[in-house]
Amino acid sequence: KRMAIFASGTGSNFQAIVDAVQKGSLQATIALLICDKPEAPVVEKAKRANIPVFTFKPKEFASKAVFESIICKQLQDAKVDFIVLAGYMRLIGSTLLQAYPNKIINLHPSLLPAFPGKEAIKQAFQAGVKITGITIHYVDEGMDTGPIIAQEAVVIHDDDTLFDVERKIHQVEHIFYPQTLQKLCLREFEEEFK
Ligand code: GRF
Repeated sequence: KRMAIFASGTGSNFQAIVDAVQKGSLQATIALLICDKPEAPVVEKAKRANIPVFTFKPKEFASKAVFESIICKQLQDAKVDFIVLAGYMRLIGSTLLQAYPNKIINLHPSLLPAFPGKEAIKQAFQAGVKITGITIHYVDEGMDTGPIIAQEAVVIHDDDTLFDVERKIHQVEHIFYPQTLQKLCLREFEEEFK
């Protein structure tokens, strides 16, 4: 299976997926990185790993439908089977959703449906929850609302700082996202997970 990864920032999850593919624990090909921030560190990580990159600036396009149809063309040319969001800080629109139904996957740093949206780790920390975690889910038109594929819990101890919780969440993400993607590839996606 051939995946495109969409990312906007640091790309630590992008790097974890690259590493898993290189080790052979994720049997898939990363065909393309799509990035809406040309100066983001994830772009450099992709270049180092010899992964083709398509960057764009959303503001330079008249609408989401316009830039998503350009992305679609890139995905088709790269023969992409599924899309992996890894810190892509933008809602996926109907153009991409219709082109890749049930083939777009997101990682979110909370136990959904708790704490959707931005700053989920901070929100959970400030709410004082004792257990948080990560969620991997199919993407629909909502913000972090699609069907849940897998979740993993992270315990917040009384003496944890926000920084501690962020570190623990990212550690779990880097292990669990590539593992779950491998399971999805083996199980042909929604057939077994719905
Ligand atoms: C991750 O915490 C992920 O859950 C969220 O965005 C963050 C991306 O981090 N959707 P990185 O760019 O992979 O380091």
